[in-house]
Formats: sequence, C-alpha cells, structure tokens
Amino acid sequence: MIDFQQLSNKYDTPLYVYDFNEISKNYYELKEAFKARKSMLCYAVKANSNLSLLKHLAVLGSGCDCVSIGEVKRALVAGVQRYKIIFSGVGKRDIEIKEALQKDILMLNLESEEEMYRVEKIAQELKIEARISIRVNPNIDPKTHPYISTGLHENKFGVDIQSAKKMYLYANRSNSLNPIGIHFHIGSQITQTTPFKDAAIVIADLLKSLKAANIDIKFFDVGGGVGIRYKDEETISLYEYAQNIFESLGNQDVTIVCEPGRYLVGNSGYLVTKVLYEKRNDKKRFVIVDAAMNDLLRPSLYRAYHDFELISAKDSKEKSLADIVGPICESGDFLAKDIYMQETQHDDIIVMKSAGAYGFSMSSNYNSRPRAAEVALVDGKDRLIRQREAIEDLLRLEIDFI
Ligand SMILES: Cc1ncc(COP(=O)(O)O)c(C=O)c1O
Repeated sequence: MIDFQQLSNKYDTPLYVYDFNEISKNYYELKEAFKARKSMLCYAVKANSNLSLLKHLAVLGSGCDCVSIGEVKRALVAGVQRYKIIFSGVGKRDIEIKEALQKDILMLNLESEEEMYRVEKIAQELKIEARISIRVNPNIDPKTHPYISTGLHENKFGVDIQSAKKMYLYANRSNSLNPIGIHFHIGSQITQTTPFKDAAIVIADLLKSLKAANIDIKFFDVGGGVGIRYKDEETISLYEYAQNIFESLGNQDVTIVCEPGRYLVGNSGYLVTKVLYEKRNDKKRFVIVDAAMNDLLRPSLYRAYHDFELISAKDSKEKSLADIVGPICESGDFLAKDIYMQETQHDDIIVMKSAGAYGFSMSSNYNSRPRAAEVALVDGKDRLIRQREAIEDLLRLEIDFI
C-alpha cells in the first residue's frame, strides 16, 4: 500500500509517483513471454522519459525506442547501451540523422523513401554505413482510439509492403545503407490479440521474401502497443501474444525486438493531486483540484478514463455525480467526467491511477503552470527523481522583453 498522504505532505502536489518494483515485474513478465527465442525489449521512451526511470530499465537490460535525438540522448545519458537504441519517427531532421549515425546506435527506423535518401546522403558524407530498418505499415486495424492507431494506410506512419520491398532492394545495393531490421507498430492500447497476430503474419511473410532475395535481416521489430487495464478492459495474454509472433516467424532466424511503452510503466504510475474546493451549479458538481490537463492530458485529448481514489479525512459514504477538473482556462480541462464520488473537502487527496505512461511526458507549461515533481518508489522507499519546476525555470529562456 502506497502512503499517498505522506508523500503529498513530503513533496506537495501535483505529484507523480512511480513504483519501480512494478516496472521491474512488468519487464520480466514480458521478457519471460519471449524466452523461447532471441529477443530484446526496447522501451518506448515517449511513454515516460524520466532519466531515473530509464536508468532503472537500463539496469534490467532494456534497450530504448526513441523518436527524437533528444530521446536518444536521454537514453544514452541514462546508461542504455548504444547498440540497444533504435531511432524511429516520421520526420527526422538532418542534424538528428547525423548525430544518431555518429553515436553509432543500433539502427535508424525509416518511415519513407525520401527519408532513406536523406540518410544515405548523410551516411555518404560521414563515410559510414548506416544500419537501418524500415517501418512497414501492414494496413491492419488495431481497434483502438483513432489518435493512437498507426497501422492503417490512412495513418502517416511507415510505408506499404510494395514500397518497403523497393526500399529494401535499393538499400541492399547501396554502399552507405545496411538494412538489418524490419519494423511494424500498429497502434497503442491494443486489447485484442488478433490485430497483432495479423500484422505479424503479413510482416513475417515480407521478411521471408527479403531473405529469399539475400537481404540479411537480423531484427524483427514488432513495435509496442500492448494495452493495459485503465477501467475494466480485458488485456491480452502475453504468452499468446509471443506465441503468435513465433508462429508467424516459423524457423526464420531473427532477434525479436519489442517496444513496449504503456505496458511497462502505465499502471506503475500515479498522479497525486489535492482538492482545492467544490463548486456546484444547477447542473453540475465540480471537484476542483490542483492538477490539470497540463499535468495529465489524456482525459482531455482522448477522453481517456483514469480510475481514481479519494483519500479523505471525512468519512462520507454517499456518492454523487461529479467532474474532477483542474484550474486551467479550458472547458476541456478535466481529469475525470461524470464519475461518482463522495463529498470532498479542502486538501483531500485524489490519486489518479494508471498515469505512468503518457502522463508526465505529455505535460506542458500551459497557463504558466510549473510541471509536477516526480518521485520513485523502490522497495517501499521514496526518492525525488525530478524537482518540481519553479516559475523561474519557465522564465529562464525568455529574452529581450525590456
Ligand atoms: C514506434 C513505436 N513503438 C512503440 C510505441 C509504444 O507504444 P505503447 O506505449 O502502446 O507500447 C510507440 C507508441 O506510439 C511507437 O510509435
């Protein structure tokens, strides 16, 4: 049991709290599912890029999937081994490509033919061979929220099978490109096995034809996307998930790369917030708290549901309909909508659950709100891993206003 009251007394609110033991448990569970084959977990840094959290995963043996050179640098600073780092993303600037090549990471994951030519040119200038993979878009519906669905042709990600084949043949002939990986990622928060299975079959088929053309692909990267329980979702069996991938591959000798983000950290994180006051009108009851959409954007962005717990001094049992809202000047600023909760009073604690993924990493300074502090729990001990921002931190980079 985490003592959120004590943590909020010690660190103030809004506060992110991450249970690192839970992250380890998730890591080992997924690694176990893949144990029958060569595999590598490359944590998707975008889910939560805190350096201590990255270091924790690096110590477990994790690699990283990054989508900017900033994330690559974070991973390296945290001690992730360079040969376990993948750089993906639909738009990479020349300088990012150059730095990634100079840092000699495992591979750049390419998402268009145009990008391939840029990488080739930059590798030529550097007189090196760029290790690459190609993100293939299998046109499979992951049956998740449209904003986090990425494996359909209407999405901007990856290239279709025909274009991928053409790119592999080109890359294989180039002196500056070395195609070593094949990649797909069909979406996030996926709670059914079939879309993963269907995608793996399509891409493994492509892999077979590439091997037949003497293109020596070593890494079969299945992306991330394994969903977690926010409310009452059925989650997939990791065993079945991995078995389907093994079956799609048959006896093809490759290292399976998996890029979990949400699965590793989502349910390990909490956003702790304090009640400021309650407000009612003839239609609604609002519980106004000190965290807002700038701290946790998912409810506003996707109408995502986060379960919550009220820690109150008052022993009231009766619940009524309410919205939990923040102080930001947007009607879309809410953490929960139309939920039933007990009456609250000033300084009661509300803990928003499942906030470890796409929580702090999507936070902003909107309304000039300094971002929350972050705390890690390891074996029951708490440790501050990111200081609360001060308004001075926000003003520091602004110049020439006098
Ligand atoms: C290429 C890639 N890999 C992995 C992930 C992680 O996804 P998830 O957090 O759903 O596991 C993402 C998320 O957008 C992604 O784009």
